[in-house]
Amino acid sequence: MRYLPLDEIEEGMILARSIFAEDGRTLLARGVKLTKNYLRELKALDYTHLFVGDELEDFEVKGISEQTYSQTIRSVREVFLSAAKNQNLDFKEVLDVVDFMVDEVLNEDVIYNIFEIRNHDNYTYLHSVKVGAIAIIMGKNLGLARKQLKDLAVGALLHDIGKMCIDNSILEKKGRLTYQEYEKMRFHPKYGFDLLRGAPGLSLFSAHVAYQHHEREDGSGYPRGLNSDEIHLYAKIVMAADSYDAMTSGRSYRRTLWSHEALAQLAADAPEKYDPKMIKILGQSVALYPVGSVVLLNNMEVGLVTDVTRESVKIEFLTGTDKGKRIALRANDLLKIERQLS
Ligand SMILES: [Fe+2]
Repeated sequence: MRYLPLDEIEEGMILARSIFAEDGRTLLARGVKLTKNYLRELKALDYTHLFVGDELEDFEVKGISEQTYSQTIRSVREVFLSAAKNQNLDFKEVLDVVDFMVDEVLNEDVIYNIFEIRNHDNYTYLHSVKVGAIAIIMGKNLGLARKQLKDLAVGALLHDIGKMCIDNSILEKKGRLTYQEYEKMRFHPKYGFDLLRGAPGLSLFSAHVAYQHHEREDGSGYPRGLNSDEIHLYAKIVMAADSYDAMTSGRSYRRTLWSHEALAQLAADAPEKYDPKMIKILGQSVALYPVGSVVLLNNMEVGLVTDVTRESVKIEFLTGTDKGKRIALRANDLLKIERQLS
């Protein structure tokens, strides 16, 4: 399985990970042979990268299932849209899918692998779901109990729901916001808190995740400028997960960072901005070189990452005399990954 820009994908390659539409439906299922038409349509829909392979065998990525991802996108989208329309919010479906997400993370030794199959339409919901997934894995690695993981996950999935109270003209504006627009934008955590607190079945902790997710350790965040010891643990987890996903999915005008670059950047920004302990846990929870990456090794050969566990990274050699051979790299091995190529 490889993660390739759309331009480099050829007819006949097989889609290695399903593509979801904005509402969570499967647009194109894993295993489909890509035709010229499909590729043209995906381009028209603004997709830039896909996971592809030559055969179907090694496509299984452990962790949260595609079905659960799809259901989560759908249920998050429904509450977000209700919030945008000022309707009564019903969180039952979100609470139900969170059960599945938490179970799937607890049942396996899961590491988060970036999957970045999006266009501009599905960004908000996909971002929420990815932050949810990363937060649950981090929470598990921090030793949180099941009930705590659920409250954390609900907060992570809904952390940006307050954006639905902000004018579309601001949300969809291309380029920099004016000072006044930015000031309005800074209210979204408070709006989120107001939407979530007191809702039936929702923990107040989840509401505080929405309220606090833009705070920073040194008090430089918003809306309240809280200090480190005033920020709840769940919000600290979601702050790290949110920033990691924003950096690696190229939402801003900045260049999209690779996973290992984002982790290095976050580590450099801690302790002023992020709790260093959370960045450490994040580093144990996400793959440094996600499955599908092409990497340069320190023997100057090129390899494809085929599996990532907490102990090792499995590589298939793409060049050299060992071409086609697979090995597992462990932390202390002499052979190491130098950097990511694509
Ligand atoms: Fe936010």
